[in-house]
Amino acid sequence: MARIAVVYQSPHHGNTKKLLDAIRAHTPIDLIPAEAENETDLSGYDAVGFASGIYMSKMHKSLAAFVEKNQTRPASGKAFLLYTSGSGTKTGAKDLEEKLKAAGYTIIGTYETRGFDTFGPFKLIGGLNKGHPDQEDIEGAVRFFDETILTGI
Ligand SMILES: Cc1cc2nc3c(=O)[nH]c(=O)nc-3n(C[C@H](O)[C@H](O)[C@H](O)COP(=O)(O)O)c2cc1C
Repeated sequence: MARIAVVYQSPHHGNTKKLLDAIRAHTPIDLIPAEAENETDLSGYDAVGFASGIYMSKMHKSLAAFVEKNQTRPASGKAFLLYTSGSGTKTGAKDLEEKLKAAGYTIIGTYETRGFDTFGPFKLIGGLNKGHPDQEDIEGAVRFFDETILTGI
């Protein structure tokens, strides 16, 4: 069976973590908090995912810091990305993608969907995307993982 880890950070409402929990309910994956104190050896994995919400137009900065800190990576170099955002941006992973490529990774897939957002003024109007990720968003993430990631490694 493929060994897959996902480095994640989901502090706002746990939106991104909901996607990961659904994936993990189907397929065993190791979830690694991006701010884990110890260096994590990624060399034994077949692929590594990076997952978070979008913060100031980028994936959470702890993911980039993790990539800088951790010198190990899967022999295949395969990585994938999952993110949730308030705006539905399609470019939220751009910076992290470039960082991963510079570190020798190949991106084999990206999944993005909307997540409940109560940042700043949005709180006053009850937040954006209430109820998201919903069942359909979550099923989309599971399908992405099964069809794009598991078949791509
Ligand atoms: C401090 C902060 C900054 C945010 N910046 C953006 C942003 O630039 N673009 C966007 O689309 N969403 C933005 N959001 C919304 C989050 O990306 C969205 O709620 C996401 O689903 C949070 O994921 P999480 O619950 O997994 O942390 C921001 C939220 C917070 C709290």
